[in-house]
Amino acid sequence: MSPRHFLSTLDWSRRELEGVLADASRLKEERGTLAREDLAGKSVALVFFNPSLRTRTSFEIGVFEMGGHAVVLEPGKGAWPIEYRDGVVMDGEAEEHVAEVARVLSRYCNLIAVRAFPKFQRWEDDREDLVIRQFAKYATVPVLNMETITHPCQELALMLALKEKLGTTDGKKFLLTWTYHPRPLNTAVANSALIIAAKFGFDVTLLCPTPEYVLDARYMDAARGFAKEQGSRVTVTHDVDAAYSGAHVVYAKSWGALPYFGRWEAEKPIRDKYKHFIVDERKMALTDRGYFSHCLPMRRNVKATDAVTSSPQSLVIEEAENRLHVQKALLRRLVGLSGISP
Ligand code: CP
Repeated sequence: MSPRHFLSTLDWSRRELEGVLADASRLKEERGTLAREDLAGKSVALVFFNPSLRTRTSFEIGVFEMGGHAVVLEPGKGAWPIEYRDGVVMDGEAEEHVAEVARVLSRYCNLIAVRAFPKFQRWEDDREDLVIRQFAKYATVPVLNMETITHPCQELALMLALKEKLGTTDGKKFLLTWTYHPRPLNTAVANSALIIAAKFGFDVTLLCPTPEYVLDARYMDAARGFAKEQGSRVTVTHDVDAAYSGAHVVYAKSWGALPYFGRWEAEKPIRDKYKHFIVDERKMALTDRGYFSHCLPMRRNVKATDAVTSSPQSLVIEEAENRLHVQKALLRRLVGLSGISP
């Protein structure tokens, strides 16, 4: 039987995710007072195809705090470059195939975590999420997504922060706003914020400059489906003030418009016209004492002003801290440990 992976929250129910968050809360409360040995004798491979500050640090420390060992691998840097397509003649840069990498790591480790961003050339290719799917295909241990075309650990960290502040999330207003960035960015966190907010019963508004910035139909449709199940809704708007009005949460992220994927010079003049989408005090004043957050890293005074980022309503640091707790809770589950008793 193949192991249960954590590739996306699309195939995890709200009830399951609520269980992970409940464990994460307990792990957060007990941190520093109780030494855990949940991962004693267990090892985790952290495979990074892209840079990281929060993800690498929180995973390494999380595994350490539960008595396990994490090994960080950077294919093409400290580890061999990897081919992940099946059936190709490997006469390029790659020295080994994911079929061997995933199976070898499965013999050493109890879990494999992978960060593999899109290549930004053809969305049709990137949306297949092939790197992590190939790891999951060949691994005999659970595979966990540390950000590919979604960022499910970030989703849970955000949701933990929101539940801590709001209590219930059902029926509250969640604004996901596009913001300017000088370069086109991955849609992963935006996809993730959209689907988790809908799954947790928020009324979700997606604010973006033009219809070209609407997210991939896979995530839009999933979010609409989750919202229907929860009795809420997903709305797309390009009207800034209407979007902020009455919001309980403002979540900021920049992303590149999918129709321009791989043709980013053509997208740049559009993006450059919308620098005023920055999250500022005037817009936040339209909300219902709304909380602000962002996944980080974030360019201050480009995506959000200093005043918003450092305000008491800002959850950016809390959300980042929560990465540690939700990932510890997930690691426990994925290696077969059940929920933590209150
Ligand atoms: N939010 C997040 O994943 O941060 P890093 O890219 O620094 O890991």
